[in-house]
Amino acid sequence: MSAIAEAMTSPVFDVEAIRRDFPILTREIHGKPLVFLDSAASAQKPRQVIDAERYIYENEYANVHRGIHYLSQICTDRMEAAREKIRVFLNAGKTGEIIFTRNATESINLVAASWGRKFLKAGDEIILSEMEHHSNIIPWQFLRDELGVVLRIAPVTDDGEFRLDEFAKLLGERTKLVAITHMSNVLGTIVPVADVVRMSHDAGAKVLLDGAQAVTHIPVDVQALDCDFYVFSGHKLYGPSGIGVLYGKEELLEAMPPYMGGGEMIRSVTFEKAEWADLPYKFEAGTPAIAQAVGLGAAVDYVTGLGLDAIGAHEADLLTYATQRLSAVEGLKIIGTAPGKASVLSFTMDCAHPHDIGTLVDRAGVAIRVGHHCAQPLMDRMCLAATARASFGLYNTRGEVDVLANSLEAVQEFFG
Ligand code: ALA
Repeated sequence: MSAIAEAMTSPVFDVEAIRRDFPILTREIHGKPLVFLDSAASAQKPRQVIDAERYIYENEYANVHRGIHYLSQICTDRMEAAREKIRVFLNAGKTGEIIFTRNATESINLVAASWGRKFLKAGDEIILSEMEHHSNIIPWQFLRDELGVVLRIAPVTDDGEFRLDEFAKLLGERTKLVAITHMSNVLGTIVPVADVVRMSHDAGAKVLLDGAQAVTHIPVDVQALDCDFYVFSGHKLYGPSGIGVLYGKEELLEAMPPYMGGGEMIRSVTFEKAEWADLPYKFEAGTPAIAQAVGLGAAVDYVTGLGLDAIGAHEADLLTYATQRLSAVEGLKIIGTAPGKASVLSFTMDCAHPHDIGTLVDRAGVAIRVGHHCAQPLMDRMCLAATARASFGLYNTRGEVDVLANSLEAVQEFFG
């Protein structure tokens, strides 16, 4: 029986069985067992994802959507089957609403360049939050500089809680778009996105949710949320890098012009004019990331096989335990304590710069991220230059939290 099958038939979340699916987790770093606590940056891949990509290249690879030969057709079927898995994963109404991109960043850029340029004008307002990743700031700054749209920023509390009351004050008749993270990659804060969508729609604004972090921890139902756009990256969802997803409501995608031009996205071309292909291909110019899309389908099978509720419960236990263990380390301050937060734990230490912390714990085999986490405005809001960040995935254990806590105690002894 495979490890995932064992885990699924087990009455408890069998993390040891799950770990056997991830070949990299058996390796050592600096002579110590790897403790990988950087899944919020990019998650490790289970054998099922690695095998799915390998299988395509070894047995079924050809270009898609353009060949009548056997391999092209079967490879097309595999890629479209992956798209359908993602539709089900997000509970989108139609497969054509699932656009393959390179990553969440490209998905946001696509919406900004296509929907934004067509439907926004000078003076229109876009609301972001203080917690946004740079990928959900810069594309809107491009529009601000190009069109004269105005960016308004919804605040968070010192604990990292989203201020729904202050957000409500920013909404008005000029608000055309709310582009907001579903989960902060630094604070772990889960934004009350159902409220955000409802309030934004009441004000006549569209909503884009950046699900790059949330999608690995929380079940997402885009129809229940009623969001207009939802984006995520494959590589954080235990899938390959180089593949991401844009979900958009069909009527919006239909009204949007293509983002890039080339093969695959056209119905007909003359030197005078061109007609666009139907959704989703209108937004997929060029040969797509075929094997990566299939790998993402395998990743979706993997997480749905375990169940996002079960994964979320396991990670919540780790987060509670880690919060308790790290709070006991002298001089350590946790950044981001919003109620209901998920699976990332940012912190600073009085005795050491985050880069020194990261370097020292690496010697103990522990991989954490340090720096501004591509969220410099949030660092400014929190009056910090950087934090250290441990992030937990479905394969982490309490024992690994102990290794982290012990190595942080050693940092304290070394510098303190
Ligand atoms: N956005 C990724 C992170 O938070 C890279 O680390």
